[in-house]
Amino acid sequence: MPQDFLWWRDGVIYQIYPRSFADSNGDGVGDLRGIRSRLDYLRDLGVDAIWLSPIYPSPMKDFGYDVADYCSVDPVFGALADFDDLLRQAHARGIRVILDMVMNHTSDQHPWFIESRSSRDNPKRDWYIWRDPSPSRRPWNRHGGPPNNWASVFGGSAWEFDAKTGQSYLHLFVPGQPDLNWRNPEVKQALFDACRFWLDRGVDGFRLDVAHMFYKHPDLPDAPPKLGLRGFDRQHHFYYEHLPETHTLWKEFRRLLDEYSERAAVGEVAPDAAADYYGNGNDELHLAFNFSPMGLPWNPRAIQRAVVNHEARLPAGAWPCWVLSNHDVTRHISRWGSGALGDARARVAATLLLTLRGTPFTYYGEEIGMRQANIPRAEIVDPPGKRYWPFYKGRDGCRTPMHWNDGPHGGFGAGKPWLRLSRDVDRINVQRQQGEPESLLNFYRRLIALRRSNPALQRGSFRALIDRPSDVMAYLREVEGQAALICLNFASDEAKFDLRLAGGGEWRALSSSVTHSGEGMKVTGEMTLYPNEALVLGRTA
Ligand code: NOJ
Repeated sequence: MPQDFLWWRDGVIYQIYPRSFADSNGDGVGDLRGIRSRLDYLRDLGVDAIWLSPIYPSPMKDFGYDVADYCSVDPVFGALADFDDLLRQAHARGIRVILDMVMNHTSDQHPWFIESRSSRDNPKRDWYIWRDPSPSRRPWNRHGGPPNNWASVFGGSAWEFDAKTGQSYLHLFVPGQPDLNWRNPEVKQALFDACRFWLDRGVDGFRLDVAHMFYKHPDLPDAPPKLGLRGFDRQHHFYYEHLPETHTLWKEFRRLLDEYSERAAVGEVAPDAAADYYGNGNDELHLAFNFSPMGLPWNPRAIQRAVVNHEARLPAGAWPCWVLSNHDVTRHISRWGSGALGDARARVAATLLLTLRGTPFTYYGEEIGMRQANIPRAEIVDPPGKRYWPFYKGRDGCRTPMHWNDGPHGGFGAGKPWLRLSRDVDRINVQRQQGEPESLLNFYRRLIALRRSNPALQRGSFRALIDRPSDVMAYLREVEGQAALICLNFASDEAKFDLRLAGGGEWRALSSSVTHSGEGMKVTGEMTLYPNEALVLGRTA
């Protein structure tokens, strides 16, 4: 490992959805002790950090993204002492821990909101966004209409009328998630204090939930309409996304993190604006997720364009951050293929993720090729899934319990899990893949190890090599004295690649997604890629 190794820049980060990783006490929900019991697995996989989706006390209306106390742990996950133990044990294995900070909104059960809604003159009234109803045009709206036309991300109006005080509060997500008023300095102070609470305990960083939505236009103007499927998608979000104040806030947050050593923040922001959240490249967020490949078809040109565009927009010094799957979207193996084709493409996708310039975030289960599970309607628990079924089935299918083995409940825990497991658990599980040298799990392990041992892959510059229509996406990663060439064949036919595009010379195969035995082979001139082959090469001279 290089002397100046920096975990959030040079490492691989693994997202854990705590409800679904490992259940130590048999109540059907994953917990911190469960995660702790699997740390050796994560160390052997080679990851440098884990990001835990929210573990705080919560009524779970949005499964933890509705926080009722920022400085504690929900009993379903364990106690604060379990967290401290997990952190210690993770650090002992060289694994950093990132917490999910959900600060745009709280739960409606947070004591701040309970106070805020208690009366119009409560000192915490202004911690949230309260407005008088508008004169209603609808006869059934006894209390008047919502203060403006904003739609909630999860459906319906973004306003909830509260009869006790005769005003409505804003919630960009479910009504149980009232938006905080970040224009009130006390709010910022309270949440910065909560962050300090965890930093002082040794937490290494934060994933910042909807980091682009914190500030709302003070006049709350109506949102102009646009074409889209669901309510939220049918509006422009100018008045609460990417307001300039948001950048001022994250710069201040950066200064807070910089008071500690090697702490980092990664922002969840709308993909089109990810590059804007780095400030001058060094004074805002350390990382901002780039989700753009998630929304793209399996098409080398489209994906290459997204990467090249993002690279071009980043300020000097900024470091990209790539992600293909998370707890909000269909797992990429199911998105980009099915059956054997899905398996082959999962390896190409893994090579892409782990060789692009930038920090890769992997999502639990992706390393064994867990599919999106099919959850019957009666078992759907995700709020947007309940609301929009069958047009949108929600996010439960990507949040199902981890497949550890082919035993009861896939080795997740002794009790009936909170979400059913996917039916293919007998075939797709950790134990089985650990025993198969050519498994996807072992492919991820080898690639992560390769990345770690190869400075060009870890730190190198990025240069796209193909700009004409082709089935191959190819790019060079270079540091002084070393180069890596990545060729991804997106097609199910053989494809040619001319090494002269990469400056010619002799190259050595470092990783192939199709033939492990070809590794080490020397190639020059024009080479042929197998169908769906992802090849990583190193220059020999
Ligand atoms: C983004 C999170 O990723 C998602 O799971 C959550 O529902 C919303 N923010 C609201 O917190």
